[in-house]
Amino acid sequence: MARGPHWSRSVVMTSIRYEVYAYGACRYSEGRIDLGRVIAIANQKGGVGKTTTAINLGASLAIAERNTLVIDCDPQGNATSGFGLRKDGDVPSVYDCLVNGQPLQAAVRPEVHFPCLSVVSASRDLTGAEVELIDRSDRQRILGRKIEALRDDFEYILIDSPPSLGLLTLNALAAADAVLIPIQCEFYALEGLSQLLNTVRLVQRSINPGLEIEGVLLTMYDSRLNLAKQVAAEAREYFGGKVFDTMIPRNIRLAEAPSFGEPIALYDVLSSGARGYLSLARELIDRHGSS
Ligand SMILES: Nc1ncnc2c1ncn2[C@@H]1O[C@H](COP(=O)(O)OP(=O)(O)O)[C@@H](O)[C@H]1O
Ligand SMILES: [Mg+2]
Repeated sequence: MARGPHWSRSVVMTSIRYEVYAYGACRYSEGRIDLGRVIAIANQKGGVGKTTTAINLGASLAIAERNTLVIDCDPQGNATSGFGLRKDGDVPSVYDCLVNGQPLQAAVRPEVHFPCLSVVSASRDLTGAEVELIDRSDRQRILGRKIEALRDDFEYILIDSPPSLGLLTLNALAAADAVLIPIQCEFYALEGLSQLLNTVRLVQRSINPGLEIEGVLLTMYDSRLNLAKQVAAEAREYFGGKVFDTMIPRNIRLAEAPSFGEPIALYDVLSSGARGYLSLARELIDRHGSS
């Protein structure tokens, strides 16, 4: 174990800062930042790394001192529990905002693990939201409208979405400036992507003309496998420069961290998974930090 009970929180934070500086993702090295960039993390396939990316990219941006909000828009609430938060606590959840008309501000939980990290949690009743909203004519735009009210409070707003192209994912895409698409480096990785890209085009044509593709993220990359290399090469051929340079390695520590309710940077900052997400955060900041 790289981290034992004798490790105090301040030792962990110091070693995180050291790693972050080593990666150059610290505030002083950057220029301008687009305020309130909303990024939906979407892929209708399950198990491709959406939630892992929402948690750990969010945490890595916060470590780099970017004021970041992660919104858990998946009824499974894996991002919520992965941050160590309760799914059915007293704090309003994204369900209360979408269905019960609560402002998103009421659901924001500040300082989750890091001073710059806020989270809006999901609760189990979110499962029913798609049905409950069916008669609302503005049903695809509710989240987007709620986010507008606090867009300027954050530098990055990440939305974790469920493994479907249903109403919750549509709300996320309608609310977003850009979509980040994680792809698992395995067989059939690119299958189904045309469906996702069609949905993105549909959203661009109807409700959100400004929606961009932030990038395609290769996840669970194992450099020892030819198959992973093939998938990476195919993705780069298909998406060109839209594929992030950073590839997230397959790393067991990333799979373990959620059961401790911690982002990987707290659970094991020296792991390859932590380095991967810190490097992804830096890539994102580099894109939006220079004007
Ligand atoms: N890079 C990785 N290395 C190892 N395990 C991973 C990695 N990324 C995700 N996992 C694990 O794979 C499973 C699916 O990931 P998850 O982020 O929940 O996918 P999704 O949200 O797309 O369904 C989870 O058990 C997660 O812990
Ligand atoms: Mg998920």
